[in-house]
Amino acid sequence: MSEFIGTKRGSWDGEQRPLYLAPMSGVTDLPYRLLAKECGADVTITEFTNSTALTREAATSWRRMETHETEVPFIPQIFGGDPGDMATAAEMLAPAADVIDLNFGCPAPKVTNICAGAALMGEPDRLVNMVETIVDRVDVPVTAKMRLGTGGARANNSTEICERLEAVGARRLCIHGRTLKQRYAGEADWTSIKEAVEKVEVPVVANGDVVDAASAAACLTHTGASGLMIGRGAIGRPTVFSDIKVGLGWMKEDDLPWVAQHDDWHGLSEVGRAFVSRKWCWDRYIELSEATIGIQGKWMQRHAIAFTKGLPGAKKVRTLMHEQDTTKAMADAISGFLAGV
Ligand SMILES: Cc1cc2nc3c(=O)[nH]c(=O)nc-3n(C[C@H](O)[C@H](O)[C@H](O)COP(=O)(O)O)c2cc1C
Repeated sequence: MSEFIGTKRGSWDGEQRPLYLAPMSGVTDLPYRLLAKECGADVTITEFTNSTALTREAATSWRRMETHETEVPFIPQIFGGDPGDMATAAEMLAPAADVIDLNFGCPAPKVTNICAGAALMGEPDRLVNMVETIVDRVDVPVTAKMRLGTGGARANNSTEICERLEAVGARRLCIHGRTLKQRYAGEADWTSIKEAVEKVEVPVVANGDVVDAASAAACLTHTGASGLMIGRGAIGRPTVFSDIKVGLGWMKEDDLPWVAQHDDWHGLSEVGRAFVSRKWCWDRYIELSEATIGIQGKWMQRHAIAFTKGLPGAKKVRTLMHEQDTTKAMADAISGFLAGV
């Protein structure tokens, strides 16, 4: 059993279970994944990357797969409609990877049109054969992230697919409790996730609509999942992981670096705390970027918008960035904004 896979857990009694940063295209770059770990995420996964492009050595795709010695475990996620390319890409990634994750959840037409991502939920034999081929070709554990089903003819076949993937050697499964048709609409269906949790012996991670300690507790109680994966709730808010851990009594608030460094944290308003914690996260994101792959302008600008969203004065952030000549100056300007300068 790989140390990075975990075990099936059963009904939840308040004890700690792993929190996963969801793979998110355009969000979960390497420094952001490292930052999320420092903010309490237990496991992170790269954004999804096209397996065919990887096999053709496409530089932009390989950039998305960059890791660093401090990233443990390193879990690249790939997608594709061609089983041969998926297996070849997995083989290329395997020497550096601790686990390889396969995407069967993406609803974007550019992905589903090539019968990849969530479209494969509508072709269960093809999906299962693909996973079996990959499991046979690589030595590292293979995991899969899926939706409930297509929402069309195969409305909800996630439990059946989980059982079949377990049988061919998938080591962990993650279910986003929505169908392809739903995309991001409606509420995540945790009852369907619970059904799969009960049917298989490999760990199942629940995903969808977990945004704070209350929803984390509700989801673990409802599903008995082996862990929780958080996506949109972690965009611009990597502290969602520590918020959950503090809220569920898994860690002490005073141990958080932004709390420990601030003399009067407990006397601050909610907005004051948001500025302080987000400034710590922002500065750390920049430090981690510099220590690994360098500051990437496009990624940094996206994170800047997300980190400042909802704060008083956030509307001027775009203008503030455009006024700067260099990415480093932009980074400093955002830090200044969050410091209230
Ligand atoms: C901007 C964005 C990008 C995403 N990219 C990926 C991806 O690359 N791979 C993947 O498996 N899911 C991707 N997802 C789906 C999330 O991983 C997650 O399953 C979904 O957001 C539901 O979880 P949530 O309710 O916590 O947001 C993405 C979601 C968002 C919002």
